[in-house]
Amino acid sequence: MSSISKPVSSKVSSQNTVEKRLQIQRLLEPTKVVSPSAGSDVVKGLTQTPKSLPPRYFYDDLGSELFEQICELPEYYLTRTETAILQQCAGEIAQITGSCELVELGSGSSTKTRILLDAYYQFGYSLRYLPIDVSAGMLESSARALLADYPTLQVHALAGTYEMALAQLEHTQLPTRMICFIGSSLGNMNSQECDVFFSQITDALKDGEYFLLGVDLQKPKHLLEAAYNDSQGVTAAFNLNMLQHLNRRFEGNFDETQFEHWAFYNETENQIEMHLRSLRSQTIQLRALNLNVHFETGETILTEISRKFDINSIQQELKAKGLVPQKLWTDTNQWFGLLLCQMQLSAAG
Ligand code: AVI
Repeated sequence: MSSISKPVSSKVSSQNTVEKRLQIQRLLEPTKVVSPSAGSDVVKGLTQTPKSLPPRYFYDDLGSELFEQICELPEYYLTRTETAILQQCAGEIAQITGSCELVELGSGSSTKTRILLDAYYQFGYSLRYLPIDVSAGMLESSARALLADYPTLQVHALAGTYEMALAQLEHTQLPTRMICFIGSSLGNMNSQECDVFFSQITDALKDGEYFLLGVDLQKPKHLLEAAYNDSQGVTAAFNLNMLQHLNRRFEGNFDETQFEHWAFYNETENQIEMHLRSLRSQTIQLRALNLNVHFETGETILTEISRKFDINSIQQELKAKGLVPQKLWTDTNQWFGLLLCQMQLSAAG
């Protein structure tokens, strides 16, 4: 292991080499990024009983901004707890994997990534960073910010869905690869979606390569319900914003003052359920989808589940897929878990 110190921002080197060190590969047409299924998922969700909408419609520009605000809320313990764990264990992760290609799913603004990058640089390991996100704009701006601060970093950004990007990963030129899926977004998938997702991960990893997963853990109901019903109403605004997003995208006439945010912890399923509840009997129209939808007073649309995991069960599930847990880090309250797994083909059930 060589010992180079943590990189400092160097204007000269970053200005000169950013273009050479940045590659952005678009896996989706820009228009398709906006509307991969042209609203068929909306039609399906709103015409079934009970009604539901895919959580990906949270994330227009305002929705992404509101989510950033949620991450800072006093009641929303997830982000700060995971960040604190990562700060403690990043060095250990770097030492376990050594020089590595770091693939990050749903990289967003890459804030937590910097903690990992710092650790790899501190130990003098080579690193190639492959962020994956549906937003090419977000990928480019966060990649440029990283390249300016890490003058030897190589970034190969992939703009597309996880499924597409994982299926198209090329052979890594570095000794190993680590796919990172932090932030507990796994909780937003139901168990069937989780199953498919784990298969995509194992297909993308060779024997001996790594998977870093952040999961929110089960805890008392009042803490969970406070995190999704914050006192400033940011989560409510985030939930209701989905209706404005649908209006814009599909020529709709949802009146968001006629719906309310409703989130509760379902103790049987171990999941937060976020709904929008209709405050009156109403019919809305989404002209671009040729769709009229009637709501009774009190009728709800499920907009998101956020599963809370039992750490032993999730480790067993991962192991059965061949993703063998090597190390688990958690906080003193055991509210959040960060798991480093290694792909071991011999362990796959
Ligand atoms: C993105 N995901 C992990 C968040 C969560 O906690 O499930 C989304 C969110 N929904 C409401 N608040 C935050």
